[in-house]
Amino acid sequence: MSRFSGISRLAMGVGMTCLALSAAQANTMQTQSPSVEKESFGQLPDGRKVEAYHLRNGHGIDMKVTTYGGIITSLRTPDAEGEWADVVLGFDNLADYRSEAYRQSNPYFGALIGRYGNRIAEGRFTLDGTTHELATNDGANHLHGGERGFDKRLWTAAPFENDSEVGVELTYVSEDGEEGYPGRLETHVTYTLTADDEVIIDYHATTDKATPVNLTQHSYFNLEGEGSGSIVDHRLMLNADAFTPVDDTLIPTGELRDVADTPFDFREATPIGARIGADNTQLAYGQGYDHNFVLMRDATAEDELVLAARVEAPDSGRVLEIATSEPGVQFYSGNFLDGTLIGKQGKAYEKRSGFALETQHFPDSPNQAAFPSTILEPGETYQSRTVWRFSTQTPTP
Ligand code: BGC
Repeated sequence: MSRFSGISRLAMGVGMTCLALSAAQANTMQTQSPSVEKESFGQLPDGRKVEAYHLRNGHGIDMKVTTYGGIITSLRTPDAEGEWADVVLGFDNLADYRSEAYRQSNPYFGALIGRYGNRIAEGRFTLDGTTHELATNDGANHLHGGERGFDKRLWTAAPFENDSEVGVELTYVSEDGEEGYPGRLETHVTYTLTADDEVIIDYHATTDKATPVNLTQHSYFNLEGEGSGSIVDHRLMLNADAFTPVDDTLIPTGELRDVADTPFDFREATPIGARIGADNTQLAYGQGYDHNFVLMRDATAEDELVLAARVEAPDSGRVLEIATSEPGVQFYSGNFLDGTLIGKQGKAYEKRSGFALETQHFPDSPNQAAFPSTILEPGETYQSRTVWRFSTQTPTP
């Protein structure tokens, strides 16, 4: 697989520089053996046990994943001074992911999303002459797999460990007709934490009937540390020269619009908040950024990893780079967080206290013939890979 060569080759094309480690960070980076440990994460009302897998790499980066929804509940990384913080929004217990308040606001913190990431217009699509009706759980539209998407299902888990990597493979079988989708879909998602401070997410799925599939991961990051306030000062680079504008229900119109001279141009790193309040119909529809960006990709390099995004936290110097085999990324600036959910540190998650970068095929593709197809046929294997790479640079407050 081409993950390192893919990222560095493409990163050079978008102006990424080499990052130096501070002395403090270098110190924290030698000591431990990679490990994976299983912990209890509670029980579902029907008695099924929920587990959490605690992954650590040799540099001490650690990440917890629960079998409920494949949710990444925590991810701790060092900053430029070697200070550690949890950089993803979420909770440290199952009850908070299943509370009524959580269900009402439905932010999908850290979860695996399936069968279909983002929206399908009016919960309806026609495939091979048959019209399928899905749940409409977002106004008139279908969002993130429906009433009980993959984020609310119990996955089975198989941990693994070798000299340089630790991880866990999660499996979920979605029966024919679940949430209105055709076909029995067998899905495997593997989280790997590497010695190079990467989290690799590999998705595989097979079906026995043609069906749309668009899997993604819905972590909300705050690289200054979860619960530390707004993300609007984070600087974002998106390797996209177009985005898919939406209607007022956030369904793409079908257009691929050039980002040039719009608040959607992140080809040069720009603070998320710099233009978020601009007088712009698209920003008004999303109450901020909630849009699919079309990644720049060499046509011959289809399915290879491209650098999709690079985010820098000015105060801590943390940097997150995201590479993917997907054609798009949904940049969501946490606009619908409203302070009603209280996070791991006891702090309210206010509007824009986290951002998500969901690598994906484009929203509503089953109804958009010109978008890359999301239909998986029997006999084919759905395969997708996304890599998050964590590093630091000199803080630039
Ligand atoms: C969607 C948002 C939605 C959020 C949480 C994002 O992927 O684009 O519109 O509010 O997920 O559900």
